Amino acid sequence: MTVAVVGGTGTLGSLVVADLLGRGERVAVLSRRPTGVPAGAEHRHVDLTTGAGLDLALDGVHAVVDAANSQKGAKETLVEGTRRLAAAGARAGVANHVTISIVGIDLVPMSYYKAKLAQEEALAASEVPWTLLRATQFHQLLDSAFAAAARFGVRPTGEVKVQPIDPAIVAGRLAEASLAAPAGRLPDVGGPRVQTLTELSGAWATARGKRRLPLRVPAWGKMGKALTAGAICDERAATPGQDFEEWLRHG
Ligand SMILES: NC(=O)c1ccc[n+]([C@@H]2O[C@H](COP(=O)([O-])OP(=O)(O)OC[C@H]3O[C@@H](n4cnc5c(N)ncnc54)[C@H](OP(=O)(O)O)[C@@H]3O)[C@@H](O)[C@H]2O)c1
Repeated sequence: MTVAVVGGTGTLGSLVVADLLGRGERVAVLSRRPTGVPAGAEHRHVDLTTGAGLDLALDGVHAVVDAANSQKGAKETLVEGTRRLAAAGARAGVANHVTISIVGIDLVPMSYYKAKLAQEEALAASEVPWTLLRATQFHQLLDSAFAAAARFGVRPTGEVKVQPIDPAIVAGRLAEASLAAPAGRLPDVGGPRVQTLTELSGAWATARGKRRLPLRVPAWGKMGKALTAGAICDERAATPGQDFEEWLRHG
């Protein structure tokens, strides 16, 4: 049984690949470039924005985990890409197409989140049997955002609430789902704690030894209100694991 991990060279996808290999599964990594494909997995070239390589790459594949991403080309890669991938999966007889999404995308009017919602709709409208998991923000996302801000000499603060999670936990859930029957939408998964931007960037500055000028991020409009109210968090989905501070120290 082969599981194809689309975007298997990315932050989340590479963890899904490692998890599946650890379970003794056969894994095909689908992406445009073969960067960092581990021993034991096979790389197959695909491009979700054109559909190139999909039929060949899904030959003999039992399940697909879609962990591809593109911030700039979200519509082409995530929405149209899902349509192309799911259609190819249906042609190839894929038994379960597993996709990752984000908690609260229907509550925050951000263009990337609109694309993620459209991706979910494209999956639900497809002919392939599917499973969908929504997760909260990965520790790496905050780490790189705070590092980028620090390069400009600032530390973002404010009451925006985030519930960061170790993506290895999310990867484990996706790997497990790909080996099970298609389940539709799974219960959401979130990090162990909901924290404010001030708390999280403070923990980052201490752990990285980078003191910077606090800069309050304005929480304007519908988006600001939603983020401050905790729209991208879900305490019922809280999962044991390293919180952001622990991950910075040990992760
Ligand atoms: N980051 C977060 O905090 C977070 C939280 C919840 C959910 N998610 C979701 O998790 C998923 C993965 O995010 P990530 O941050 O792990 O992504 P990432 O690190 O940016 O990795 C993106 C992957 O997609 C591949 N890819 C990009 N464009 C492609 C294309 N046209 N055709 C085929 N492959 C393509 C990339 O490889 P090539 O460039 O070589 O093709 C790479 O393997 C996304 O759906 C995201 O919405 C992320």
